[in-house]
Amino acid sequence: MNYTDRLTNVSVLGAAGKMGSGILLLSALEVADQMLLPANKGRHFVVNAIDVTSSALPGLLSYIRAQVLKAAEKKTVQLRKLYADRADLIENSDIIEAYISDVMSVIRPGTRLEAAYDSTLIFEAVSEDAGLKTRLFTQINSNNPNQPWFFTNTSSVPIGGLNQSASLEGRILGFHFYNPPAVQKLVELITISENSSEMKEFALQLAKNMRKVVVPSNDIAGFIGNGHFMRDALHGINKALELKSLMPLHEAVYCMNKVSQDWMMRPMGIFQLIDYVGIDVVRFIMKVMDPYMEGETLHSSLLDEMFEKGVKGGQYADGSQKDGFLKYEKGRPVAVYSADTGSYVAFSEFSASADAWLGELPAVALPWKNLVKSSEKESLAAKAYQHYKGMSEKGAALALEYGKRSREIGLKLVSDGVAANSADVNTVMLTGFFHAYGPVNEFVV
Ligand SMILES: NC(=O)c1ccc[n+]([C@@H]2O[C@H](COP(=O)([O-])OP(=O)(O)OC[C@H]3O[C@@H](n4cnc5c(N)ncnc54)[C@H](O)[C@@H]3O)[C@@H](O)[C@H]2O)c1
Repeated sequence: MNYTDRLTNVSVLGAAGKMGSGILLLSALEVADQMLLPANKGRHFVVNAIDVTSSALPGLLSYIRAQVLKAAEKKTVQLRKLYADRADLIENSDIIEAYISDVMSVIRPGTRLEAAYDSTLIFEAVSEDAGLKTRLFTQINSNNPNQPWFFTNTSSVPIGGLNQSASLEGRILGFHFYNPPAVQKLVELITISENSSEMKEFALQLAKNMRKVVVPSNDIAGFIGNGHFMRDALHGINKALELKSLMPLHEAVYCMNKVSQDWMMRPMGIFQLIDYVGIDVVRFIMKVMDPYMEGETLHSSLLDEMFEKGVKGGQYADGSQKDGFLKYEKGRPVAVYSADTGSYVAFSEFSASADAWLGELPAVALPWKNLVKSSEKESLAAKAYQHYKGMSEKGAALALEYGKRSREIGLKLVSDGVAANSADVNTVMLTGFFHAYGPVNEFVV
């Protein structure tokens, strides 16, 4: 079966979810692009958008339509070529409308899993539950005569385990998009020894056509991205708990958030990132990964406490940030949660003294958005860390310690065989987490 044949009938499971909706968009765009090639004129293509939440499907289609419009506006030159035989399409707006209509025509929304019984390729982005994923794979696999390929978006469940539990005989790999899939350039590709070379080549070609940066990861729970992020988050959490002997916990959370953002020149502080991903999600991913970690524990009782109190972060349906460790106004953190009182304490009540405790941020520590745009970001980051080494301020010491831990985690991912080399770890953190410099560097040591 060639590339195009494989794409004639695709299903996206969990299509109405955060990840599934983006995967549906990317799949439908690629399928429509294949359908519009002269060689494929008259062929029938389908992308089934399957989700149990039927109420979400109409909104999903409006979202896809709006996103296809954006995508079409960016590729009018390419679309003009694809529609070269359509004399009726004159203006750019005619071509864009025709493309939206063609992309939407391949999408079949529905709640029934049976729609996937004819598919040749299945993208899976249902909730992070190994039992649920296994059940769906088993049901499709035993009713689908096409020996379909399963591309799972799991963040933490080992692919080899899913292969065995659903008896897929190597027809599964991890195609791990980052959130949101339509925007984020990174895909971690997790293959297992049972995969055919045809399947691996197809996955690479598909990722390339979706304009993704592909980083291979070995099949070890959490892969590279979460392998780094979960340990890095634990460092921030544990450090805040350590500082609790010197200040109230909410101030310590504020300090570590500030160190990891301003002093480390990252796009957001570690507690803001945990809120963004979701306290419940981070806690859950650690729980899934933990049994596979030898000689270390991936668990935080602070995350448990927050979860039990119902403080979970994550986003509302409109994409705005829910409160978590931090409270947000217009997307910006303004207060921090106090577990003692169960309420938020405004930054204005304590930030002056907490900032003074950390010490003045030196001018060499550039704001992330300036640093990341610079062609000399590595050397500018190196300069800042070099400067910290000569400082006595607590912020500098905490940033250096955090940088070292982050580097150690990166090196461990290589020595554990999760990543092929430290360049791959750095690519994941630069591309998937928008860091301005890779964790495996020489300037934090
Ligand atoms: N959110 C992230 O940042 C992120 C990043 C990378 C990977 N992932 C992974 O992607 C997957 C989906 O995560 P998400 O954040 O999009 O979750 P989500 O909760 O937003 O979406 C899950 C979707 O699956 C649907 N679903 C549940 N059971 C189903 C079933 N039996 N059949 C069909 N649909 C079903 C739900 O209705 C929901 O729409 C998980 O495996 C997660 O670990 C998430």
